[in-house]
Amino acid sequence: MPVAKKTAEAARCSSWIRQMFEEGARLAEVHGCDSVLDFSIGNPNLEPPREFQEVLEELVRDPAPGKHGYMSNAGFPATRAAVACHMAEDQGVPIEAANVVMTCGAGGALNVIFKAILDPSDEVVVSRPYFVEYDSYVDNHGGVLKLVPARPDFDLDLEALDGAIGPRTRAVLINSPHNPTGRIYPKTTVRALGELLRRRSGKLGRIIYLVSDEPYRRIVYDGARVASVMAAYENTIIASSYSKELSLAGERIGFLVANPAITGVDELMEGLIMANRVLGFVNAPALMQRAVARLQGITVDVAPYQRNRDVLYDALTRAGFTLTKPEGAFYLFPRSPIADDVAFCREMQEQLVLVVPGSGFGLSGHFRLAYCVAPGVVDRAVPVFAKVGAKYFG
Ligand SMILES: Cc1ncc(COP(=O)(O)O)c(C=O)c1O
Repeated sequence: MPVAKKTAEAARCSSWIRQMFEEGARLAEVHGCDSVLDFSIGNPNLEPPREFQEVLEELVRDPAPGKHGYMSNAGFPATRAAVACHMAEDQGVPIEAANVVMTCGAGGALNVIFKAILDPSDEVVVSRPYFVEYDSYVDNHGGVLKLVPARPDFDLDLEALDGAIGPRTRAVLINSPHNPTGRIYPKTTVRALGELLRRRSGKLGRIIYLVSDEPYRRIVYDGARVASVMAAYENTIIASSYSKELSLAGERIGFLVANPAITGVDELMEGLIMANRVLGFVNAPALMQRAVARLQGITVDVAPYQRNRDVLYDALTRAGFTLTKPEGAFYLFPRSPIADDVAFCREMQEQLVLVVPGSGFGLSGHFRLAYCVAPGVVDRAVPVFAKVGAKYFG
């Protein structure tokens, strides 16, 4: 076997999202790009904001020497300071540049965090459905993912979380706005989670971190706000990125920020910075660090996403599907009309509509649509959902 057994197994069960995305490319070759309605992957269709282009052009013209060399593994001091300032305002707690590490996206940040905090067999508790790459991010560093059900409205089930915490628990990992449901956890839930973790950490005599994965925190609708996790709980680390809010997914730029109130935060920062280096990232891309330092608080215009959400939500509910209205991110997670969500996604594929089975997010009986697509794609999908709805619910 050319690869390790574990890698072969992981590749075999490889992400449904990628499988559907690749199937989309194949179908597009056969039927033509415009015929395939691809809702499989969360790749932002909006271009980065105008300000990004302007800053980038200025930076590229800047003749200063050494612009493309290594820098401190944690990132440029000016970028870390800009992120700290913005995040302090956002979270309502004091944050210094020393608490920030620039990373290769939110995925990079999560790997750095788990490398730094997990001992072998330490457990990370996650509410399902969940972003399936978490399996690998935790396993990469010897940890074990422990899944708990969410409430029917996809809010966190705090009793289930409480029940899943034990002597090996090192972290609870949350994601809000949420992929795949679009749920934003209410402030009351986040506060109650903080109290729960404080109580359980105290009893167990070890830190249980709250790791908050927030790459969608600026992709919100109807004026929704994402509650501050750092105000709710001291032992919190946020992983985030500019992949979605600036549509820079391919540039691999993000950050992590540790709450300065974490017990032993200086030692933790040393561990995080070292993890960024030894994982081979070394540092986040230099040019992008310089760009985002000047783009704090700027976000793509979410109006086109909101329009897509509204059109699809209305079309799906009218067609008879059951779903909760997303408050953020760019995903819908309706119930599949048949228990076998994989079979249902295959049926949609025959109609040239690509959606991903809920099983790919740890919750069968559902399917996910990523609506970060051109408006024409959404409009053309409406009659297909009406037809499929008539078959199952008519
Ligand atoms: C919930 C969640 N976390 C993390 C990531 C990874 O983001 P990035 O591209 O910034 O690494 C994604 C990407 O889709 C995501 O949906």
